[in-house]
Amino acid sequence: MTERDRKLALFGGDKAVRDELPHFLNAAGRTFGAEEERLLLEALRSGCLSRNGGTFVHRLESEFAARLGTRHAVACSSGSAAVHLAVAALDPEPGDEFIVPPITDLGTMLPVIWNNCLPVFADVDRRTLTLDPDDVRRKIGPRTRAIIAVHLAGQPCDLDALAAIAREHGIVLIEDCAQAYWAEHRGRRVGTIGDIACFSLQQSKHITCGEGGIMATDNEEYARRAVLFADKAWPRESSALGSSRFLFLAQNYRLSELQGAVAVAQLPKIESVVERRRQAAEKLTARISRARGVSGPYTLPGTRPAYWLYMLHVDAKRAGVDAEHFGNALVAEGVPAWVRYLVDPLYCSPIFAEQKTYGTSGFPFREWGRQKFAKGLCPNAEKALSGVIAIHWNENYNDMHIEQIAAAILKVARHFAGEPAAA
Ligand SMILES: Cc1ncc(COP(=O)(O)O)c(C=O)c1O
Repeated sequence: MTERDRKLALFGGDKAVRDELPHFLNAAGRTFGAEEERLLLEALRSGCLSRNGGTFVHRLESEFAARLGTRHAVACSSGSAAVHLAVAALDPEPGDEFIVPPITDLGTMLPVIWNNCLPVFADVDRRTLTLDPDDVRRKIGPRTRAIIAVHLAGQPCDLDALAAIAREHGIVLIEDCAQAYWAEHRGRRVGTIGDIACFSLQQSKHITCGEGGIMATDNEEYARRAVLFADKAWPRESSALGSSRFLFLAQNYRLSELQGAVAVAQLPKIESVVERRRQAAEKLTARISRARGVSGPYTLPGTRPAYWLYMLHVDAKRAGVDAEHFGNALVAEGVPAWVRYLVDPLYCSPIFAEQKTYGTSGFPFREWGRQKFAKGLCPNAEKALSGVIAIHWNENYNDMHIEQIAAAILKVARHFAGEPAAA
């Protein structure tokens, strides 16, 4: 190993990651192939690119439900739209509350606000960054309608505890599975344990058609409302031409046949995508097991994550450096990483902290809010974010790629721990 290999890339040394890694933004990091091309062409040649009149989106819905193991699935235009279908399925009153984690994509709670309801933040388990059931219990109030549990980075939440709380209080458990295709919780697939599950088909997800989403449920009534909500509450089946009496306030969240065709072709690939991500993640965890002050993702006993991201935890005291500086050094080494995942918990964003919603009204927070959106609201989330680095994960990483990522982590860890580099 030369002096330039040992020196951090941040300070002018050579990068530990020398290959161009597969990434979700390029073909090498996605799983599109002949089947996607064939079905896409078939959709185009059919002459009908709309769900209403086409076959692919309907096929996506029935095949997705069968594969996941739910009775119904409803496709829509994004993962955020899928959460909106779930919220709308409950037909909540304005001012009703949905308990959410503060570390997630904003899409988990945007639909709650658009539905004139309130996200109520509960703190997370510092190890997994997913909802802490004890704090969820504390946050339940008379207007709580549902818990939206996010399987962050592909790590299943403590679903047994959350489902028990939901049952006890007669509220609904919505699983946000956008990052967690086919993750498992005590032998069951996430998305089949709560009352409703939401998935995203956006470009970076395990399977994708660019943009899109799916809501899945066993509940007939929720599914019926979701189908209507995604299509302007237009009861098309009621006559050959479709009735043009609109049943309630809804949206147009329809997925197109072009997207549906690609998504249908992607469906059979989920198992292998998840398995390859798991194997790669387990290899990396083993390779970095001796790095001082850093560790791989924490996995709750009895769960099998889907590894949308690989969460690297930095214990600043032992590592001799905080996650921010560690992460910057990793990025300089060529590791596709994001320091912290989010700059701050979501409640610190202007949408919440400054109540930037509809004009200057601050609605619905000013009207019904019972939380102050400011630092200190969820201390564990704040603490956890400051110690985490999210590494983009990919099913097409090979052993060389894992080796180079491991080399980068070990090199940076040794540098900050003041250990001599390995020969
Ligand atoms: C946990 C989670 N929920 C919801 C969404 C929203 O999905 P979309 O971007 O497809 O609207 C995402 C997207 O990244 C997500 O990660």
